[in-house]
Amino acid sequence: MSANPHPDIERVLIDADSIQQRVAELAAEIDRDYADKPRLLLVGVLKGAFIFLSDLCRALTVPHAVDFMAVSSYGMTATSGAVRIVLDLRMPIEGMHVLLVEDIVDSGHTLHYLQQVLASRGPASLRTCALSRKQRPEAMSVPVDYLGFTIPDVWVVGYGLDYADTHRTLPYIGVLKPEVYR
Ligand code: IMP
Ligand code: MG
Repeated sequence: MSANPHPDIERVLIDADSIQQRVAELAAEIDRDYADKPRLLLVGVLKGAFIFLSDLCRALTVPHAVDFMAVSSYGMTATSGAVRIVLDLRMPIEGMHVLLVEDIVDSGHTLHYLQQVLASRGPASLRTCALSRKQRPEAMSVPVDYLGFTIPDVWVVGYGLDYADTHRTLPYIGVLKPEVYR
């Protein structure tokens, strides 16, 4: 990692090497758990999960397919209780082992909603892998089978995570300077 983070970043929470190491560990766990389960489908939640998913799926050795969903979000940082699907899967998931891949669990609304929707479609199994989860009670109440990192309840960017669609491609996860919110 470069010595100085992006000027909008107050501090680096998780550096690039730590992320890559954790992704490798998660992939090894998933490889082990799905070794005897054919028809694994990774479902990435756009846009935030696309970088995490691309690293995770390439670290897996177990055969799998990849598809995406997208849900609406309202405002820049506000996470409302209302979730709406704006991009759905191309194929039915009945009989498939589905692993939902999400960037971050904040209020937990998005994950809870997607878990309900996918479970109703009759997959052989449904599990969730999240890169990060905020340390707040609501986020803890949603089941996550594979968790990368627990982070403080602050707005973070990088490694797919954005603020108003910026800072997604930083290689680390960092906390934005407060003045950037204005
Ligand atoms: P939820 O509040 O758990 O439903 O999270 C909704 C979505 O908001 C997540 O999937 C992320 O895409 C986004 N989000 C929540 N917290 C952050 C953050 O700190 N940085 C960037 N995106 C976030
Ligand atoms: Mg997301």
